[in-house]
Amino acid sequence: MLRTKVLRVDPTHPDPAVIAQAARILREGGLVAFPTETVYGLGAHALDPRAVRGIFAAKGRPADNPLIVHVSRPEQAFALAENPPEVAERLAARFWPGPLTLVMAAAPCVPKETTGGLDTVALRVPDHPVALALLEAADLPVAAPSANLSGRPSPTRAEHVLSDLSGRIDAVLDGGPTGVGVESTVLDVTVDPPVILRPGGISRERLEEVIGPVAEAGDAPAERPRSPGLKYRHYAPRARAVVVRGSPQEIAQALDRLLSGFESSGLFPIGCLVSDETAAALSKAWPGLFLLGARNEPEEAARRLYEGLREVDQPGVALIVMEGYEESGIGRALMDRMRRASGGAVVGAGELARFALDACKAASDGEIRP
Ligand code: TXA
Ligand code: MG
Repeated sequence: MLRTKVLRVDPTHPDPAVIAQAARILREGGLVAFPTETVYGLGAHALDPRAVRGIFAAKGRPADNPLIVHVSRPEQAFALAENPPEVAERLAARFWPGPLTLVMAAAPCVPKETTGGLDTVALRVPDHPVALALLEAADLPVAAPSANLSGRPSPTRAEHVLSDLSGRIDAVLDGGPTGVGVESTVLDVTVDPPVILRPGGISRERLEEVIGPVAEAGDAPAERPRSPGLKYRHYAPRARAVVVRGSPQEIAQALDRLLSGFESSGLFPIGCLVSDETAAALSKAWPGLFLLGARNEPEEAARRLYEGLREVDQPGVALIVMEGYEESGIGRALMDRMRRASGGAVVGAGELARFALDACKAASDGEIRP
């Protein structure tokens, strides 16, 4: 087993000597996790097939799920694409560095390991001083998926990276918590109109301000190219999860009713990710609550979601209840990640008790079964 080095850096003014140490590991074909503005990425030299295979091995990631290649300047991204379309240049000028990934035809130098065997490549310039310093110092394109074990929630802190990958990677640059909290928007610009393959940090509305109408992968499923990653279970806690819809009062009432049923046992097999308003409307501060911030601030909820999923996912917890948010702006990406974590389970407040009791029963049956 490797001993994973933890390299602490100031998130806004990273020490060049520490960055140089991490850059050297990348240049030698090693694996370094680093913060971006969205989530932590697990980086390797994108043009070195052996280094890239190391990412798949460390994460347990299926080999057909392609990686995003990170560079520090737009020109470097376009050098890895074949005939970049004009819309890509307009989007890059507006949103890079930032949480937008563009899928373009791949230049021949990009290995199949990186593209998962596709003839396209996903490219982005991240907006984080540590990521940019590392990319500049390494002077390489860096392939970096989220730095979690495949299927687990993405890491928004170095501690999350270590809890999944300690002993499996060479180093992590610890630059503190990330800002956006959900991953970049993945936009396929090889088709007209471009298609959002994964909603993320840049909303559809903001893209449309720059290039006019864009489609979403769900709009016309049969004809649209799909992002290979979307077919896998994602962002998933170990416990079952469900999204609950309703006003804070309705959700608080449903949770009070549900949780008071466990009070006599003193064991609460339910974790709850709720808005401040819902928490305030509860009859008491139940164990297992994690606050997502104000209901009208989906940015804050996006920033906290993955941390909350990891925090409430304790042994003995059979079900995680996540409060649903409105699906506009970044709320779209937030709800996409919540639905993936719950495997698509969404219920109204009135149906929660029923769903929760079934989930708890299934969990305890599972424990008794040999
Ligand atoms: O914010 C982010 O995008 C983070 C940070 C580290 O940059 N990275 C990230 O990478 O979320 P990952 O590997 O967890 O997700 C990449 C997504 C997957 O759904 C993958 O299938 C898709 O992008 N993707 C990558 N290359 C693609 C391609 N050529 N065509 C279609 N989808 C692609
Ligand atoms: Mg990921």
